[in-house]
Amino acid sequence: MVTDESTTGVSRRNFLQAVGATSGAGVMFATMGAVGLAPTAAAQPRTESWIAPTKSDFTLTGRSAKKVVVVGAGPAGLASAYELQKAGYKVTVLEARHRPGGRTLTIRGGDSETDVNGVKQTARFDKNIYMNAGAGRIAQWMVTMDYLRELGVPYEVFTNANADAYLYNERTGATPGNPVRYRTAKADVFGYTSELLTYATDQGALDQKLTAADKENLRAFLRSWGSLKADGTYQGGDNRGYSVYPSAWNEHGTPLPGPGSVSEVLGSRMGMYFPFEINWEQSMLMFQPKGGMDVTYDYFVRAIGKQNVQFNSPVTGVENTPGGVKVTYTAHNGKARQVEADFAVVSAPAGLMRRWSTNWGPDIDAALGEFAVGAPAGKIGLQYRSRFWEDDHRIFGGITETDMDLAHVWYPSYGYGERKGLMVGYYNTGTNARTYGDMAPKQRELRAVEQGVKIHGEKYRTELESSFSIAWHKVPYIEGAWAYPNTQSSRFKQLQQGAGNVYFAGDWMSEISAWQHGAFWAARYAVQALHTRVMTS
Ligand code: FAD
Ligand code: PHE
Repeated sequence: MVTDESTTGVSRRNFLQAVGATSGAGVMFATMGAVGLAPTAAAQPRTESWIAPTKSDFTLTGRSAKKVVVVGAGPAGLASAYELQKAGYKVTVLEARHRPGGRTLTIRGGDSETDVNGVKQTARFDKNIYMNAGAGRIAQWMVTMDYLRELGVPYEVFTNANADAYLYNERTGATPGNPVRYRTAKADVFGYTSELLTYATDQGALDQKLTAADKENLRAFLRSWGSLKADGTYQGGDNRGYSVYPSAWNEHGTPLPGPGSVSEVLGSRMGMYFPFEINWEQSMLMFQPKGGMDVTYDYFVRAIGKQNVQFNSPVTGVENTPGGVKVTYTAHNGKARQVEADFAVVSAPAGLMRRWSTNWGPDIDAALGEFAVGAPAGKIGLQYRSRFWEDDHRIFGGITETDMDLAHVWYPSYGYGERKGLMVGYYNTGTNARTYGDMAPKQRELRAVEQGVKIHGEKYRTELESSFSIAWHKVPYIEGAWAYPNTQSSRFKQLQQGAGNVYFAGDWMSEISAWQHGAFWAARYAVQALHTRVMTS
C-alpha cells in the first residue's frame, strides 16, 4: 500500500515551496493549513467568538457614550471596565477592598489582611518574596495569557509538575517518613501496570478486543512504557532514579532500593496523583506573572485610569431606575453615596449580592442564592532563610502531593539563585481548609510545619522565618474560594440575560469557575450583551 507519508510528504513540501516562492508567508501558512500541515485558524483552541467593542463604534453611529458602573475590581470587573472603556464608555469601578485583583491576591512584606472575625495578620516577608494567596497558575490556552500580552505584563513559567517533587501518603501506610519522588512512583506504577497488561494480553484476555497486530503493538508500547524485562516482568530500572546519580567513569550510579511488590505499589495509591498533570486545565507549560499574580490588575487599573477605580467603596445597593441604574455605596468617610449610570456590571461573589438592597426581584435573588456558599480553601506562605528544598532535595519548583491535611505543598517558581525563598506549606480545600481556617495564624503555622517536617526534615522548622496564611471563606467581601454553577439550570440561564440594566459577571458566571479565564469570558459576554443592546436600541 502506498502511504500518505511516502508520497505526499515530499510532494506537499514541493507544493508549499512553490506557493511560498510566489506569495507571502501568510498565504503559505494558510495553504499549509489547507493541506493539513499547519493549524488553520479554525484549528486553534479559541473557539469562542469575541468581537471587542472599538472606539469607532460610537463615532460611526453618532451615538453618545453611555455610563457604566462596574462593581468589583477583580478580574471580571476590571476586564469589563477595560473592554467597555476601549469602546468609549465612561466607566466607574467601585471596589470594596483596598486593592484590586479580588481572589488573585498576592501577599508581600507589609501587607495586612483582617478576616471576617477581625483577626489581623501582617506579612513580614522580605523584599522580592511574595505569596500568591489565591490564583497562582495560568494554562497556555487561557484568555488570561492574552490579557497579559495585551497589557504588557511580564510573565514566566510556573512549574506545575516536577519529576523530583515528592509524593507522601501516610494514611495509606505507603510512605510514612519516606517520601517518594514522582519519577520513582511513576516508574513503579507504570512498570507493574505494564507487566499486568502484558500478562493479560499473553493469556488471551484481550483477544475479543485486539487483533494479533494490535497485541504486538500494545506489547511493544508496554515494554517501553513500563521498562519491562524481556520476559515481560517489571523489576525496576533507571527511570526510578538513583540515590547517587551516575557521574565519572567510576560511578555507575547507586540505584534506589526497591521496587516494592505489586501489592505494595498498588496499595500506595500513588497512581491516583498522576492524572493531574494531563488534566486539561493543569498540564504544563503553565505561566505566572512576574512578581505576583495581582500585578496583572495593577496594569488593568493603570489602563483604565486610576481616577476611574474607587477602592474602599463597598456597594450596598443596586437598583434599576426607569432610565438606568442607581448604585449605592459606602464612601471613605462612612457615608452612603449614590451614583447613577445607564448600566451596571456587577462582579461581586453571587451569594454576597443577596445582602444588597435591590429591586431585581425574587427570581434573580433565588438564582444568586444557588451560589450562596463559596467553597472553603486555604494557603500558608512560609518564608525560609535558605532554599533547602533546592540545595538539599534538588527540587526547583513544582508540587509535592500528600494525603495529609496539608494536601499540596508548592515550591516557588521564582527567585532561583536567591538566598531566601517562600514555599506554600499547604493549599487545601473542604474540611481540611476549615480545620486550618478555624485555627489562629500561629497555630496554622505550627501544624503546617509539624506535617511538612515529615517530608522535608528538620530544616523545614529551623529555617523558617515567617508565615502568612489565608482562609478564603473568611476574607471580607469574598467569603469563599469559588462557587460552581449548574450551567444547565434555568435560573443560571436567567442570570445570563441580566436584570434590567444590570449585567452579571464573575467566574461563577462561566463554564470554568475557579479560573481567571472564566471571569474574563464572563466579563466579555456581559460587555458584548450590553454593547449589542446599546448599538441596536
Ligand atoms: P473576584 O476575584 O472575587 O473579584 C470580585 C471583587 O468584587 C473582589 O475584589 C471583591 O472585593 C469585590 N466585591 C465584593 N463585594 C463587593 C461590594 N459589595 N462592593 C464592591 N466590591 C465588592 N485562577 C487562575 O486563573 N489560576 C489559578 O491558579 C487559580 N487559583 C486559585 C486559588 C485560590 C485559592 C483561589 C481562591 C482562586 C484561584 N483562582 C485561580 C481563581 C481566580 O482567582 C478567580 O477565578 C478570579 O479571581 C475570579 O474573578 P472575579 O472577578 O470573578 O471575582
Ligand atoms: N484554579 C484553581 C487552581 O488551579 C482551582 C482548581 C484546582 C481548579 C484544581 C481546578 C483544579 O488552584
